[in-house]
Amino acid sequence: MARILVTGGLGFIGSHTVVELINAGHEPIIVDNLSNANVDVLNGIEAITGKRPLFEKVDLKIKEEVEQLFNRHTDLDGIIHFAAYKAVGESVAKPLEYYENNLGSLVYLLQNLRDHGLDNFIFSSSCTVYGEAEELPITENSPVQPAMSPYGNTKQIGEEVIKDAIAAHQFNAISLRYFNPIGAHPSAEIGESPLGVPLNLVPYVTQTAAGVREQLSVFGNDYDTRDGTNERDYIHVVDIAKAHVIAVERLVNRKNLDKYEYFNLGTGTGSTVLEVIQSFERVSNSKLNYKIVARRSGDVTAAYADTTKANQILGWKAEKNLDDAMADAWRWEKKIRNLD
Ligand code: WQD
Repeated sequence: MARILVTGGLGFIGSHTVVELINAGHEPIIVDNLSNANVDVLNGIEAITGKRPLFEKVDLKIKEEVEQLFNRHTDLDGIIHFAAYKAVGESVAKPLEYYENNLGSLVYLLQNLRDHGLDNFIFSSSCTVYGEAEELPITENSPVQPAMSPYGNTKQIGEEVIKDAIAAHQFNAISLRYFNPIGAHPSAEIGESPLGVPLNLVPYVTQTAAGVREQLSVFGNDYDTRDGTNERDYIHVVDIAKAHVIAVERLVNRKNLDKYEYFNLGTGTGSTVLEVIQSFERVSNSKLNYKIVARRSGDVTAAYADTTKANQILGWKAEKNLDDAMADAWRWEKKIRNLD
């Protein structure tokens, strides 16, 4: 049993990871400032696991709050760091707030890790570090390209901060580079709850089907793909969560081969926007109202993972497919909208 601090633990991927940590017999401690999450998520976690983890409301960009947090929890076996602002478009409008929040919180966490002699840091990174990859599928050796947004830059810089901190101090870390996390827990007790108008595709699809949104806009169908729409590697959030448990156990049990390891988390399969819509229509037995509009700036044509490293070294492989994720996302949407 390991005591794991989970920052952003009431968020989309964080809450699903807390569930899988409990399922694996560990003791997660949730840290969240509720800037993009609802404390009621704790009820969902308890409904699934029968356990209500300790929740600490802390703003990690306030140095004193982070120091007080670590003075309360000096016996941690590991940290999984999800807490960050993650809206690509918003980061273009508010770069300084993104650097302050995403990098400030990371530095304060690492300083406390060092000062308390703690170890085993898991960083929530993103496939955006690869930008418009020259080769597909994307491996961990694919070149990190200039970030397409300040958000993506905070992930790239974050990985560099961790690398330099490890070179100077004694701790171990793993960066997990997610492709496109989607779906919800099959129980429909927790899921994705974007605040305001969703920026990501799948919540916009389910909100359109639920009547919350009028119509889905498909951002361009003139790309060089099999049907002209962008291709992404959509991975079920529960598969992502399970990878975090494996990664933190790898460090706690000293199985890591290097002090700093990186892994892509994807299914290895690309799906176009139209294929996501077709998947939704199949699992919901409905027709989605959508139209093709102009391209969205900043979109890469295609991105999907080479999952060999995570499969062979982490011993992790995505178990769920696109239809599973769309069915779980739709069940969650219907639950929170009190439909059928
Ligand atoms: C997917 C595809 C859009 C909305 C982003 C972040 C990435 C990660 C995942 C945090 C694209 C199309 C979308 C819509 C559409 N987040 N689309 N209509 O941009 O691949 O990745 O979210 O880590 O860092 O960059 O995801 O869901 O926004 O878009 O046609 O209303 O769906 O053009 O092709 P993206 P997305």
